[in-house]
Amino acid sequence: MLEGSARHYLMCRPTYFTVSYEINPWMDRSRPVDTALAVSQWERLRDTYLELGHTVETIEPEPGLPDMVYAANGATVVDGLVYSALFRHAERAAEGPAYLKWFADHGYVTHQADHVNEGEGDLLVAGDVVLAGTGFRTERTAHTEASTLWGREVVSLELVDPRFYHLDTALVVLRGNDGRTFLPDAATGIGVDVAYYPPAFSPESREVLAERFPDAHLAHEEDAVVLGLNAVSDGVHVVMNPRATHLADALSERGYAPVGVDTSELLLGGGGAKCCTLEIRGTTSRQAVA
Ligand code: ARG
Repeated sequence: MLEGSARHYLMCRPTYFTVSYEINPWMDRSRPVDTALAVSQWERLRDTYLELGHTVETIEPEPGLPDMVYAANGATVVDGLVYSALFRHAERAAEGPAYLKWFADHGYVTHQADHVNEGEGDLLVAGDVVLAGTGFRTERTAHTEASTLWGREVVSLELVDPRFYHLDTALVVLRGNDGRTFLPDAATGIGVDVAYYPPAFSPESREVLAERFPDAHLAHEEDAVVLGLNAVSDGVHVVMNPRATHLADALSERGYAPVGVDTSELLLGGGGAKCCTLEIRGTTSRQAVA
């Protein structure tokens, strides 16, 4: 049996969460949002991580930034090097500096992006490479920028279905997402593992995925359309939408432990568990010296 590893996450309480603009097909201004429910679902998500032994830090939510709860978009951190987000839409622009300031204040080495990218929404660590989405939000030029910053290969993947506008809505890295484990492991032969929804990708990108991950779990449409793939894995436990039942069954069969957490109210903004979770990989220069 594989073991999950302790993770370090950054989250943002949805104090000011609402749907006041529409920048993805999930958002509908005419539908009422229950902010108190969003907060209690978010607390359950945070408590779930704590119960699994992970560390959760929080950033102060800011009024007027209702999407700030989607911390995954705030930046991407690999080897303690923070690559800032630069948002596509004006409505979210102020989130980039807010998250970058949090990291700078906490002693991290930060890099201000020159190219549009929406953090871990589109940049997912998979072993020693980074899978990078484009098509709706993040620009390809940002993939190159990130590759140079971290000295890692970045594999560009093109998204084609507007419901799956960020890579993390269509693909989850189940194993090998901690930035340290360069799988496959020589002793066990266990490699990076992903699950994804093929129709979300262009034909060329599907080929790339099939070649890189021949054993990947291919998700059903029913699981994809409830953002079941917007899940958070520590290598064993996969925190995910309990409504993605085929996916949960498939993951159990593969040896994972799915942990259902209902984030239905946050789905009104177009996000699930992963969107609310920014993984901090590596330590600050301060911690490294200490
Ligand atoms: N309303 C937000 C947007 O459209 C949702 C972001 C979800 N985050 C994610 N990592 N997919 O930008």
